[in-house]
Amino acid sequence: MTMRHGHSFQTEFRFSDIPTSPSAIPSALPEVADVVIEQSALPITVARRPSTEKTFFERKRPWSKMKDAIVGPYMPPYLTKVVRRGAPIELVDAFAGRGIYGDGSLGSPLLILEAAMRHVPGRFQATFINRNLGHHAALQRAVEQRQAERFVTCRNANAEDVLPELARAMSSRPDTLFMYLDPFGPSKVPFDVLEPFLQRPARFSTEIVVVLNVATLFRMAGSQQHHATLSRVLNTDEWQRFLDPRYYRSEEDVNGLVGLYADQLRKYGFLVGTCPIRKRPGLLANFFVISMSRHADALLLMNDIMYTAYNQFLGAATPLDLFASAELLAQQSRFDAEVHEILRQSPGIRRVDAWLACVTRHFRRYHSTAFRAAVRRLADAHELRFVSATGRLNDDAQLFLVNPGMQSVAS
Ligand SMILES: C[S@@+](CC[C@H](N)C(=O)[O-])C[C@H]1O[C@@H](n2cnc3c(N)ncnc32)[C@H](O)[C@@H]1O
Repeated sequence: MTMRHGHSFQTEFRFSDIPTSPSAIPSALPEVADVVIEQSALPITVARRPSTEKTFFERKRPWSKMKDAIVGPYMPPYLTKVVRRGAPIELVDAFAGRGIYGDGSLGSPLLILEAAMRHVPGRFQATFINRNLGHHAALQRAVEQRQAERFVTCRNANAEDVLPELARAMSSRPDTLFMYLDPFGPSKVPFDVLEPFLQRPARFSTEIVVVLNVATLFRMAGSQQHHATLSRVLNTDEWQRFLDPRYYRSEEDVNGLVGLYADQLRKYGFLVGTCPIRKRPGLLANFFVISMSRHADALLLMNDIMYTAYNQFLGAATPLDLFASAELLAQQSRFDAEVHEILRQSPGIRRVDAWLACVTRHFRRYHSTAFRAAVRRLADAHELRFVSATGRLNDDAQLFLVNPGMQSVAS
């Protein structure tokens, strides 16, 4: 087994159809739409497949549904919360697509629009951008069918041209901004396009969700001519630590790369959540959905939504219930130990802050209901005590370990 960066390679984890040596790149490009590389960044032998634009919207692929399982459930609680700020709400889907798939399922612009029409009617404006005229026209029709033309601007343009214009307008406008960026390939979202949005004053609400095609990033590393683009997307050339085309990729490399990207976002004061999208459980992630917000509530909400989306995807594909219950118990005791650790470090921490500390350390590993259950279990087992004005074990209750020197035994 080959060793690198001090860890062993897990050769059983591979991108489903991603070549693992540079020589394999031209002939091994997959057919599916979501791993296409844009023409501008390609050697001539791997020219962009025009079929992607045509076939992508024929039916929604299972892994694409995971993106919806994040954006869809996020919008209602997000909108009902931010509307209280009183500022106009600006919703942007910069790589919007047709809006409706051949199988009738809704794409991101319509998920966003329908949630906004329902939860914040009259309080929002939306901008949907499409380079492809056919996609633009189809989306425009879907918007008209919903009688939403007054609040939606569909633009037939390149997102790269519109986003800087939008960023300039939003830099001094106090609007609450939610932006969704789901291009086919990563070179469409270079960091310098994101940066002006990240630099908006912290008193304005700015949330961005990016779908990052990590499979393409790995393949781009295989050809020197893409290296500058890679650095532009990730805002650093440190990616060379993780993207070495001579080696098999491992789960650690993929996570390392996404961690590097998240670190860049954190420099602007953003809290970052990430969720891998795999074609099948056991395969390396082809994509990551990456959410960024300055608000802790957004991170906590995304934690639960991404946890649910990810585990539903795993559960649907591998219904190993017996194993799951054993795993659940093991998880419970790891979790109890985690809660112990947080309380040992911060005695008297409020329950909500303890949860935030947990999510910051282990994003998407636990659901908030499991955390509350763990706190309750530990209180019932007299491993922790709480102080609260109402006498109830709620978010404001301050938590203390009864015996800080003791390990958790509750589960
Ligand atoms: C992955 S799809 C988006 C899918 C969409 N989020 C959904 O849920 O249905 C990417 C879309 O971006 C469009 N696109 C590609 N390059 C673009 C660009 N430079 N500017 C704007 N749209 C672009 C493609 O034509 C396609 O419709």
